[in-house]
Amino acid sequence: MSAKNTFFITTAIDYTNAAPHIGHAYEKVLTDVIARYRRLKGEKVYFLTGVDQHGQKVKQSAETKGISPFEYAASITEKFLELWRVLDVDFDGWAATTDSRHKKVVQQVLQRLFDEGEIYKATYKGFYSVRQEQFLTDKERGPDGNYGPEWGEVNELEETNWYFRLAKHKEWLRDLIQKREDLIIPAFRRSELLNAIDRVEGDLCISRPKERLTWGIEIPFDPAYVTYVWFDALINYISFAGYLSDDASLPEFTELWPANAHVIGKDIMVPAHGIYWPIMLHALGFADDQIPPLLVHGWWNLSGAKISKSAGNSVDPFELASKYTSDGLRYYLVRDIVTGNDSDFNEKRLVQERFNADLANDLGNLVNRTLNMNQRYREGIVRKPATENSDIAAAKTLVEESVAAYKTAFDRYEAHSALESVWKVISHTNKFIDAAAPWKLAKDPAKAEELDSVLYQLAETLRIIAILVSPVIPKAAAKICAQLNLPPEFSLEAANWGKIADGHALGKPEPLFPRIVIEEAN
Ligand code: MSP
Repeated sequence: MSAKNTFFITTAIDYTNAAPHIGHAYEKVLTDVIARYRRLKGEKVYFLTGVDQHGQKVKQSAETKGISPFEYAASITEKFLELWRVLDVDFDGWAATTDSRHKKVVQQVLQRLFDEGEIYKATYKGFYSVRQEQFLTDKERGPDGNYGPEWGEVNELEETNWYFRLAKHKEWLRDLIQKREDLIIPAFRRSELLNAIDRVEGDLCISRPKERLTWGIEIPFDPAYVTYVWFDALINYISFAGYLSDDASLPEFTELWPANAHVIGKDIMVPAHGIYWPIMLHALGFADDQIPPLLVHGWWNLSGAKISKSAGNSVDPFELASKYTSDGLRYYLVRDIVTGNDSDFNEKRLVQERFNADLANDLGNLVNRTLNMNQRYREGIVRKPATENSDIAAAKTLVEESVAAYKTAFDRYEAHSALESVWKVISHTNKFIDAAAPWKLAKDPAKAEELDSVLYQLAETLRIIAILVSPVIPKAAAKICAQLNLPPEFSLEAANWGKIADGHALGKPEPLFPRIVIEEAN
């Protein structure tokens, strides 16, 4: 049996979203960046993401459009797949919940839990909103004690459904979260989850009668029902990892599980991913060390407000990628937010601070100056210094320190801080060029050796920078390698000083990030 892979999961996007927005783009880019970093470290990585395609809303939207739910789901799936292509989100496994391989696993899971007495049938009586297709609780009542007009017609209704024994596992979950400090990242979200566990009352309704919902997976022991949300959507994280399946097209479960991190947004930690999900795994017999850590990221907002699911105030990631390149958008999305916290989307900052300042001025200029001077003064041929002088020693130390900080940050999923440590090297190196003034050295034949050393130092620093930025801006990293005339083979192992050989011929500079001219508002 081969060794366990590094495994990352991100959420299955659901179809109550009218269109992809930057919040969705962020989650997948963040996971992709982390996955690429772990590949850089030499790990074998498997990255799973997908789409959550069932539910009443999909059926309703399909009916409005006069197409089948499947056709409707497929058309939305295509939009998201296209976005991941545009943004270079390089996943390995695709979890689409209408896939028959998934349905089979869901039914096996339900049957197993039913056989073990974890699922039972009960009748619930309550107030039901026809418009929203859900039972309402007292929380939904307005200040006058009535249900507001947003709920449409509300009737008292009695319905029999299938329930999962959630409440009996809540003590186990509380203990686990207290015992396993790694389970919730960042740690500040743990207390929020522990409080939510205290509030768990009752069990979880997991079915809908077919008269109310047909677009779902049939309950294997009761064909009058389909399973509702949790045992459909959440199970995708294991069904597409090969759980209970010998389908050769799926991975070997033991090679993947447990996931190293399960990446979710803060809104879906309570109750779905922080409570229902670990309890479902526990009820299925997963051992405590097989419950995956949740990496809970914050939200991108718009002027402090939530980005709405209906396209209204959303920010179109396709448009942003076409204006600022996929690398530009990827860089902004992981550089301008602290993993775990919220951030406010600001296009002006994207252009001025991140694109024009960091990418065009700092990185782009460093590439351009390095290659230009090498061409101008040495026709692109680098000379590796025979002995290490103090400048080289300082550059080497700076790079080593930065690589160490970069690794520490990325191992904690702090992409913004990993990038800060790379940009420290970039800005130091730009300042070094100004101080060393190669254009002066070039005029003095007695300084030829010094000039060689400076030019080597710059090329070598740039080679390492290309490796370090590759998880975030893969296209630009490959272009830097091409300009350095080196193969685009990225690994952290190669981020050691001194790999460019004596006599290596560098390529010619080509602009990496042409500055964006900002049109002044009239
Ligand atoms: N289908 C469920 C998840 C699976 S349930 C088993 C779902 N889908 S979603 O499409 O609504 O959201 C997908 C992910 O995008 C969630 O992790 C959510 O937190 C994240 N985001 C949605 N809006 C966001 C922002 N504005 N900012 C950052 N992430 C956001 O939930």
